[in-house]
Amino acid sequence: MTRVLVTGAAGRVGTHLVRELRARGAEVHTAVEDMRPGDRVYVCAADGPEKVARETAVIDAATRAGAERIVKLSAMHADPASALPAFTWHGQIEDHLRKTEMPAVILRPAFFMANLLMVAEGVAHTGLLPAPTAGRRVAMIDIRDVAAGAAAALLDEGHEGQAYDLTGPSAVTFADVAAAIADATGRPVRALDLTEEQARPRFEGAGLPDWLAAHLAGVFALIRAGGFEHATGHVEALTGRPARDIGAFAREHAAAFA
Ligand SMILES: NC(=O)c1ccc[n+]([C@@H]2O[C@H](COP(=O)([O-])OP(=O)(O)OC[C@H]3O[C@@H](n4cnc5c(N)ncnc54)[C@H](OP(=O)(O)O)[C@@H]3O)[C@@H](O)[C@H]2O)c1
Repeated sequence: MTRVLVTGAAGRVGTHLVRELRARGAEVHTAVEDMRPGDRVYVCAADGPEKVARETAVIDAATRAGAERIVKLSAMHADPASALPAFTWHGQIEDHLRKTEMPAVILRPAFFMANLLMVAEGVAHTGLLPAPTAGRRVAMIDIRDVAAGAAAALLDEGHEGQAYDLTGPSAVTFADVAAAIADATGRPVRALDLTEEQARPRFEGAGLPDWLAAHLAGVFALIRAGGFEHATGHVEALTGRPARDIGAFAREHAAAFA
C-alpha cells in the first residue's frame, strides 16, 4: 500500500485530498513525525509569514527521511520576485524544493472558486457580486479538482519533474459567475465591477492581516491584467476527467448564496 504524508490535511484542499487518497487505497498519515523512507509527501501550510519556514522544514524532513516523492501545492504566478506576498513565498519554496533534487511535482492552481464563498453572504443579502476585475475572465478552479490533481500526482507515475498549471475547464467573467449563482439559486444576481479605488477599502478595511489585504488586491490587479485568463487541460491530463465548471460549483454551494 502506498503511504502518503499529507500536511495541511485540515485545510480546504487537504480535506478533499485525504478522502480521495483513501478512496484510492492509499495509507494516509498527517503527522510529519510519522515520515518514513518511501513515503510520498504532500506539502501545504497555511499562507502567512511562517509559510516558507514551515514548508521548507517539511521538505527537508522528507529529504532526510528518504521520501520517494514530494508534491508541492503552489500557485499560478509563483515567483520569488513577485510583488504579491503569497506568490513570493511559493516561489521561494519551489526554489528550495528544486535545490533538494528530490523527485517532485509542482501544482500551480489558478484562483479557487471556493474564494467566492467568502462573499456568499453578501451575495445572498444584496443580489450583487462585487469585484474589481474590469470584466476580465478567470480560469477559476474547484478545490476538489486541485485535490484530485494532487492525488494523481502523488499516486500515479509519469509526473515527477513536472509543474502543472491547474485551472477550470474555461475562463469565466464574474458576470458568468453571477449568472451561474442566479441559475443555481433561482434568485437574481448580477456582477458589480468595482474600480481599484472602490475596492481598496474592502481589502484594507476587512480586518485582514496587511499581507493578505495586499495579496488579494494584487490578485485582482493580475486578473485585470489578464493573468488568469488562460485555461489549461492539466486537470484532465492528471485525472482523466474534465475539470468541474462554475455551474457545478454554484449548484453544489447554492445554499450558501441563497
Ligand atoms: N485561494 C486561492 O485562490 C489559491 C489559488 C492558488 C493557490 N492557492 C494556495 O493554496 C494553498 C492553500 O490551500 P488550502 O486552501 O487547502 O489550505 P488552507 O485551507 O489554507 O489550509 C492550510 C492549513 O491552514 C490551517 N487551516 C486553515 N483553515 C483551517 C481550518 N478551518 N481548520 C483547521 N486548520 C485550518 C491548517 O494548518 P495548521 O493546522 O498547520 O495551522 C491547514 O492545514 C495556499 O498555499 C495558497 O497560496 C490558493
